[in-house]
Amino acid sequence: MKTIDLVPGVKEDALQRIGKLLDSTQWAEGAYIEKSAELLSQRHRLAYVSMFNSCGSALNCIADYRAMTGRSGRVAIQANTFMASALVVLDESDLVVVDVNDTDYSMSLTSLQEAFKCCPFDTVVLTHVGGSIATEAQAISDWCKKQGLFLVEDGAHALGSSNPEAPEGNNQLGDYGDVAVTSFYATKAIPAGEGGALITRDVRIYNHSTLYQNYGKHVEAGKMEYLMSIKAGNYRMSEVQAVLVYLQLSRIDEIRELRIADALALCDALNLTPPVDAYTQNWYKFIVPDPKFTASLQVGKVYAESDQIQSVYPKALVPGNLCNAKRFAQQHLCLPIGLYSYKGMSSDQILQYLGVVYDEDT
Ligand SMILES: Cc1ncc(COP(=O)(O)O)c(C=O)c1O
Repeated sequence: MKTIDLVPGVKEDALQRIGKLLDSTQWAEGAYIEKSAELLSQRHRLAYVSMFNSCGSALNCIADYRAMTGRSGRVAIQANTFMASALVVLDESDLVVVDVNDTDYSMSLTSLQEAFKCCPFDTVVLTHVGGSIATEAQAISDWCKKQGLFLVEDGAHALGSSNPEAPEGNNQLGDYGDVAVTSFYATKAIPAGEGGALITRDVRIYNHSTLYQNYGKHVEAGKMEYLMSIKAGNYRMSEVQAVLVYLQLSRIDEIRELRIADALALCDALNLTPPVDAYTQNWYKFIVPDPKFTASLQVGKVYAESDQIQSVYPKALVPGNLCNAKRFAQQHLCLPIGLYSYKGMSSDQILQYLGVVYDEDT
């Protein structure tokens, strides 16, 4: 059973709003979905936003959009991402797996370019792993534009994060690709139990997403019509879910601040220098990329080799080696992080609680 951390007041607020909602007749497709989309849009410089019942549904929608617009070829994807990122491809054998950088765990532009030479692709999926905006996001975006490639940002981990080294207005999820997705799943940095969203500046993708999530239903010349050429279904967010999503989105900055406080407490305890984006990321994961550390209390890696794309999709193409992604999988661990859950604990108490051991000889 996963627990969801909430900032004070959210639970009471949610119960009151859900109570009112239940007394109303608007149990679906109501104001909270709209308000949530509006909040996200404001945060993302007035991009178009569609709310989905999961991030995976939004990724399926992108696969359908690709198919409808003649992009049915290969998709490049980094090894260390969740299997859901690969949903944008229709056939597993069209996946081209690329490596990450040796100094961090984000997609390597060099590996992407090398892969393109032997296995050309028409789409790239870039995952912002662990809550940090990918180091080479801008360079990958520029290269994709030059090659005419469709760029999808998987931001399931990165809602609310930005890159401190990039200019304002060009530094967060959705600023790099044609389309971005995010998740409100229970374990995520901005959790609401379930839910996802699609963010884009392309009105064609947005229009497709509204059709896709609602059986292709649309009004044409005053008449309800169904677009039968798309693989539409019911991928809508529920209105009750949207109450939680709306409340969590209203408090992104508060949530981030509390997670940052935990991250800094952990950095202190482990004697680690905080990364440059310590104050601008959402700290979805606290990643310790050093094999000298072990801990008895850990949370899931991002990612173990058995989770990586080449392991989950054995038919995927692997044109180069994935040594950085594999090494990172072996050498890192993730420590629990929450809404300043280490408040009031000394560094020694934190180390003891987590059972952290540092072995110089490893
Ligand atoms: C990188 C990534 N993409 C997509 C997803 C799927 O999100 P959801 O559970 O909302 O479908 C996840 C969930 O863990 C994820 O980590």
